[in-house]
Amino acid sequence: MSRIISQKCIKCGTEFPPNELINLCSKCGSVVEFQLDYDYIASRVSKSKLQLRDFNMWRYREFIPIEDFSHIVTLSEGGTPLIKSRRLGELLGLRNLYLKLDFLNPTGSFKDRGASAAASRAVELKISTMVGFSTGNAGVAQAAYAAAAGLNSIVFVPNTASVEKIASMMIYGSKVVVVNGTFDDAGRIAREVSYKMGWMYNGGVINPIRHEGKKTLAYEICEQLNWRAPDWYVQSVGVGTAAIGAHKGFRELLNLGWIESDARIGCVQAEGCAPMARAFKAGLEEISPVTNPSTIASAIAVGNPAGWPLLRRAVLESGGTIEAVSDDEIINAYKLLAKTEGIYAEPAGAAPIAFVKKLKEEGSIDSDELIVCVISGVGLKDTKTTIKVVGEPIRIEADVESAINLFSKGFL
Ligand SMILES: Cc1ncc(COP(=O)(O)O)c(C=O)c1O
Ligand SMILES: [Zn+2]
Repeated sequence: MSRIISQKCIKCGTEFPPNELINLCSKCGSVVEFQLDYDYIASRVSKSKLQLRDFNMWRYREFIPIEDFSHIVTLSEGGTPLIKSRRLGELLGLRNLYLKLDFLNPTGSFKDRGASAAASRAVELKISTMVGFSTGNAGVAQAAYAAAAGLNSIVFVPNTASVEKIASMMIYGSKVVVVNGTFDDAGRIAREVSYKMGWMYNGGVINPIRHEGKKTLAYEICEQLNWRAPDWYVQSVGVGTAAIGAHKGFRELLNLGWIESDARIGCVQAEGCAPMARAFKAGLEEISPVTNPSTIASAIAVGNPAGWPLLRRAVLESGGTIEAVSDDEIINAYKLLAKTEGIYAEPAGAAPIAFVKKLKEEGSIDSDELIVCVISGVGLKDTKTTIKVVGEPIRIEADVESAINLFSKGFL
């Protein structure tokens, strides 16, 4: 008996066998999703059983569509802290603001959850090579997990990817190709190359195993809150994978009766690249792709996100919303998070703070609501941006007098 029933097209409903490498539905070109047997899963795992296991994402392994657990490729990703904000919450007038520190994953971003699941699936299906495209973090994560699994890894990145991200991919042994174009250009090339060569196309929602890994974010948050969902789960979105995955995770727990209510999915995009926020606000089913994304949050500069149909469904089902915030709002959140909580995220990782600030000011969020912001990527992977925001440091001659002089002039 298998926990994995099929991979099912979200549009036309065609089902494909679980052990076939499917990217898009061969009938209608839409994305596919894993169908799992939850009765079977519930018979194998319980809340109390979970407590005996290590706190990483594979603690929830029965929920992840890897048939044979010996194929799991792990660096102990997941199991990241959920902390209650003190100073930032107070500043924003939020009494129950929590921060999920997912930048503390092995490669510095939440992308490790999807990459661990994808590398495990590649091992299970005996695929030699993973082909990714990425604004940066997903490529770094793929490179690390492919290395750990002994697989080949190729990553196509747009020319906005930071040098730290590119360097990380390369030290893990990945072949990195910088495309003189956007994320969508990189994706198009990666797709054609992987289809032609029979390799795993490891792109966002198009590789459905990715959000099966990401949904562990929801399980962890609920478990850390003593088996309840937050009122809001807030996440910055590019393609939308993590938010889609988290919604799936909350729904699964709800259907199993492990939690009593769902979390609203709050998504944030940058104004300079907000195709999903704009379509959502206008009530449209189709997005208008952004051909020239422009934002300081390079990790979420995705002009034509393949996750839109799934993300729209997740946000609507959960009663959530998708907001666009300006680069100034993102920079403010980036600084606030660091200065008030000691958390150095990259701009996309801090953007959820801009979302809650905006919604609180508009009166769409109450002071008592329990809000979890996912801090998705570490700031150290993009120091050029940080220096742009904070400026160059003061330099002095190597003597005490120069330092005293500085402080007596008010440098504190
Ligand atoms: C730090 C960070 N946050 C958020 C996102 C958005 O993730 P997704 O494209 O799955 O929506 C990314 C994507 O690269 C990221 O690197
Ligand atoms: Zn279909």
